[in-house]
Amino acid sequence: MKHVITGAFGYTGRAVARRLLAAGEQVITLTNSPRKQDSPDIPAYPLIFDDSLAGVLKGSDVLHNTYWVRFNHGRFSHSHAVINSMRLFAAAKKAGVRRIIHVSITNPDENSRLEYFQGKGRLERALKETGVSYAILRPAVLFGNGDILINNIAWALRHLPVFGVFGDGSYRIQPMHVEDFAALMVEQAYREANTIINGIGPETFTYRGLVETISGILQITRPIISVPPAVGYWAGWLISKLMGDVTITPEEIEGLMSDLLYVDAPPAGTTKLTDWAQSQTETLGRKYASELARRQV
Ligand SMILES: NC(=O)c1ccc[n+]([C@@H]2O[C@H](COP(=O)([O-])OP(=O)(O)OC[C@H]3O[C@@H](n4cnc5c(N)ncnc54)[C@H](OP(=O)(O)O)[C@@H]3O)[C@@H](O)[C@H]2O)c1
Repeated sequence: MKHVITGAFGYTGRAVARRLLAAGEQVITLTNSPRKQDSPDIPAYPLIFDDSLAGVLKGSDVLHNTYWVRFNHGRFSHSHAVINSMRLFAAAKKAGVRRIIHVSITNPDENSRLEYFQGKGRLERALKETGVSYAILRPAVLFGNGDILINNIAWALRHLPVFGVFGDGSYRIQPMHVEDFAALMVEQAYREANTIINGIGPETFTYRGLVETISGILQITRPIISVPPAVGYWAGWLISKLMGDVTITPEEIEGLMSDLLYVDAPPAGTTKLTDWAQSQTETLGRKYASELARRQV
């Protein structure tokens, strides 16, 4: 089959592309990022949401859509990402794509006041309305080589004298390994039935428990204290300024604290974050992972 992946030089897309190539499938990508040294060697077309899209998608069987923006920032926003994604779905339908594997988020909700979750909710409905066969996969948070959140928790533990968790830290998070998630995406490419699957791993942590677990695995002794969310945000803002990034947004803190990265569902992946982190003690958190640096082409 022929597969189109948005962002095959990115985080999730790269893992999906590698798996498909290993299975002998034909793969192309839509991306604005340059090919990196370890990127899959596949034809790349610009990720531009205009009339040319359907032409690029023509002849493809499956679209793997990872496209989204993490926060509003200057040249990009959630609202543009919603419009762009709808154009992508429409182009896929016009091009005769058989199935769309769409990456969403746990607890998407069209009525949410958080734009990330609201936009993802709108897109799920838009995708269903296309009439194209779909699999919607809803990850909570992904970890694995090249991830941002877990790495930067480890980075903060390594580099700061104290780690502040927002509020009491009792809200939950269910990280899934990016390779398990990519395997799920590939598996779904060969199915027919419309489906929605929560992308969660085998371990559920409270946020405080997650920080304590990483701290224990890396054998870093730092006080882990509760701070008001606003104080946590301003500390993150300061780190953002120092690192030239957006480390965390108020919306991300609210989503996390509202338990939106938790679902009551069976795990879809088997790799434990604790096992993975144990295997990464030399490298995890040594360098800060910057979202904005990834966006510079
Ligand atoms: N990573 C996680 O922990 C996590 C957790 C929950 C949900 N998700 C969802 O999983 C999907 C993939 O996430 P990922 O971390 O693998 O993302 P990614 O590789 O950084 O990016 C995925 C795609 O989105 C495009 N993109 C990202 N930010 C953009 C921006 N600001 N402006 C324009 N295009 C942008 C990328 O474009 P280029 O190809 O040009 O780089 C790429 O095509 C997303 O839908 C995300 O919402 C991820």
